[in-house]
Amino acid sequence: MNEFRYRKNTLCAEGVSVGSLAAKYGTPLYIYSANHLRRQYRALAEAMKDVKPLICYSVKANSNAAVIRTFMDEGAGLDIVSGGELFRALRAGADPSKIVFAGVGKTTEEIEYAIKQNILFFTVESEPEASRISACAGKLKKKARLAFRVNPDVDPRTHKYISTGKKENKFGLDAERTIEACELAGKLPGVEIAGIHMHIGSQILSVQPFAHALEKVKDICVQLKQRFPSFRYLDIGGGIGIKYRVGQQELLPELYARTVVPFLRKMGLAVVMEPGRFLVGNGGILVCRVQYIKNNAYKKFVVTDAAMNDLIRPSLYDAHHEIVAVEKTSDMIHGDLVGPICESGDFIAKDRNLPAIGQDGLLAVQSAGAYGFSMSSNYNSRTRAAEVMVDGSKAFLIRKRETLDDLVKGEILPVARRRGSKK
Ligand code: LLP
Repeated sequence: MNEFRYRKNTLCAEGVSVGSLAAKYGTPLYIYSANHLRRQYRALAEAMKDVKPLICYSVKANSNAAVIRTFMDEGAGLDIVSGGELFRALRAGADPSKIVFAGVGKTTEEIEYAIKQNILFFTVESEPEASRISACAGKLKKKARLAFRVNPDVDPRTHKYISTGKKENKFGLDAERTIEACELAGKLPGVEIAGIHMHIGSQILSVQPFAHALEKVKDICVQLKQRFPSFRYLDIGGGIGIKYRVGQQELLPELYARTVVPFLRKMGLAVVMEPGRFLVGNGGILVCRVQYIKNNAYKKFVVTDAAMNDLIRPSLYDAHHEIVAVEKTSDMIHGDLVGPICESGDFIAKDRNLPAIGQDGLLAVQSAGAYGFSMSSNYNSRTRAAEVMVDGSKAFLIRKRETLDDLVKGEILPVARRRGSKK
C-alpha cells in the first residue's frame, strides 16, 4: 500500500498535503512516509520470522539520519559500505554490534575505524582485504570477524549496472575459491571466520535467482561450519525488487520468504539480510515545480526545477518513475519531463504521457525513496534538495535545502592568485 494518495483530488503524504509542504519548504523536495518505512520493515520481519533474521537496512539506499533512525527503532541493524556511512550510522545512534560492512575497496582508515567500533562483521571481497583487516586488527590488539562474499555466478535478471552476482562482476570470490580463501584467512592472527555473505544484485523481481544462489552456497556453508567453530552467519544480502510502474508485479516478501526460509532453516545459521530499496523505495516522492512548457517542432518538453542531479536513476539506468500531478488532473500531454541541466541525458521521464499541468504547477515523481537523494550531487552548481519526513499528520524537516554557501564550503582560492592580492 502506498502512503501517497489523493484526498479530494490533492496529493497527500499520509495526512499532510504535498502542496502545503512544497509551499513551506520549496522545491525540488523529497518527502518520505515514516509509516510506509515501518510497514515494509514489519512485513519483511513477519514473512521471515521463522528464521528471525537480523535485518540490516542498507544505508546507501537512503542515508538520512531520520530514515536510519526509523529502522533502528524497529530493531534493524545496518549494512554500510564506507567510513562515511559508519559515521552516519553512529551519529544516528546505531548499535555497532548490529552493523555489517561491505565493499570491494575498504581503506586502512575505514577498517580501523570499524574495528575500533567493534562492528558485527566485515563482508570481505578478496584475500588481500582479509590480510589488511587482520593487520589492522593486530595493530589495534583486537580480533575482527569476517564473512567472505561469495559470487555465486547467477543472473539476477536486472539492469546490468546493478547486477552483482555474475562471474564477470567485480564482487565477491568465485564459489570454488571461497573455502580456500577461508582456510588462508583462518590462519591470520587478527581475524575469525564468522560467516558467508552474498548479494547478487538489486531490483530483483523473481525468486529464482535467490534460490539458485542459495543452492550454490549450500555446500560451502556445510563445509565451513564443520571446519570453523566461529562460523555462524549466513548473510543473504538485499535485492528484493519493488513496483515502479503501474501494473508491475513486485516481489512480495511472503513469496521471497517461502523460497528462502526452508533453505535457511536447514542451514541452521544465524541469518542476516541487507534490504535497501524494499524498505524505502516506495516510501518517498520527489516534488518538483514546472518552470516552462516548451513546444519544439518535434516534441514537447516539460521543464521542471528537479534534474538529474536530484534523481539520477532515469539518466543512469533508464529507470521508470511514475509521474503524477499534485492537484489531480485527467488531462495528459505527451513529451519529456526534463530538468535545467546542460545535458541531453538530463531527463526524469522520456516519451511519456504526463499530467497536463501548466507553468508553476507541481508534479510528484514516485518511488524516489531509494537511491534518490543518496545519489544526488551538486552538478551544475545546483544546491541539493530539502528532505521532509511525514508521520501521520505531522511533517518534519529532516534535511535543510542547501545554500549557495554550502556549494563552496571547503573550497580554497590559492592566495597568490587572488585578484588584487599584493603578494
Ligand atoms: N547489500 C549490498 C552489499 C549492496 O551492494 C546493496 C546495494 C544492498 C545490500 C541493497 O540492495 P537493495 O536491497 O537496495 O537492492 N543505485 C542503484 C542500486 C544500486 C544497489 C547497490 N547495492 C539503483 O538506483 O537502482
